[in-house]
Amino acid sequence: MTTPSSNTLVKLTGVRKSYFSGKVETPVLHGIDFTMQPGDFVAIMGQSGSGKSTLMNILGCLDTPTSGEHQLDGHTVNKLSRAELAGLRNRTLGFVFQSFNLLKRMSVLDNVALPLLYANVPRAKARERARAQLAKVGLTDYANRQPNQLSGGQQQRVAIARALVADPPLILADEPTGNLDTRTSTDIMNALTELNRDRGQSIILVTHEPDIAAYAKRLVRLKDGLVLYDGPVREGLAQLQRDTQDNAAQETAQGAPA
Ligand SMILES: Nc1ncnc2c1ncn2[C@@H]1O[C@H](COP(=O)(O)OP(=O)(O)OP(=O)(O)O)[C@@H](O)[C@H]1O
Ligand SMILES: [Mg+2]
Repeated sequence: MTTPSSNTLVKLTGVRKSYFSGKVETPVLHGIDFTMQPGDFVAIMGQSGSGKSTLMNILGCLDTPTSGEHQLDGHTVNKLSRAELAGLRNRTLGFVFQSFNLLKRMSVLDNVALPLLYANVPRAKARERARAQLAKVGLTDYANRQPNQLSGGQQQRVAIARALVADPPLILADEPTGNLDTRTSTDIMNALTELNRDRGQSIILVTHEPDIAAYAKRLVRLKDGLVLYDGPVREGLAQLQRDTQDNAAQETAQGAPA
């Protein structure tokens, strides 16, 4: 189980996902193929409801495909035992959720230390590393507060510190700059870019903003649960801009008096 495997970090083959409410099926992902090598930096874009978070939940092993296969670091995720899966997640993944998911009753410091405690790092050592990570996001003075005593932007930075503290090979970030001002967003994107460039950490990031996606190397566009584009970020953003202009032109034409 711990043997390092093939060079492919993530592989999705024909992944479909439906949500069920009783017998009523709501299909969300309609067959996603996606491969990622270590060191890649992928931005995922798509309209609200297109399935981005659903896809991230699968990539993060928080949910399983209805059909199709998900491989992470050479392991077929649905073939692992619960304990093996927990181990794989702790070794491989760091999360920044759309809603930060900080634990309210724990201090900021202990929130950041949590992934290390899960990985059986002794508490004192975990706190030391958490403190160093908090310093990197400029929150040293907030270590002993509760998360709800921080602003939205500060909480977001705590969530990012928690995602990075255990040096995971793959960082999954669902709109990490969603609620932040431009300056903080830029700081966070620069920090992620550095991790990717200098430490080779792989990143998958969901965003609605082209300016944020532009930090990535590769763009995946989702539409109605299918991949609309998968390729270099520059070409992808140019295509997105053309599509947006076409749509606006169409709406103007439709709205114009006959
Ligand atoms: N637990 C669930 N049960 C039923 N339907 C769900 C569930 N989670 C998501 N959906 C539906 O699946 C679709 C995709 O949702 P998802 O959260 O993946 O979208 P998204 O692309 O992340 O959107 P946003 O940009 O708004 O975050 C939506 O129509 C949503 O209503
Ligand atoms: Mg979402």
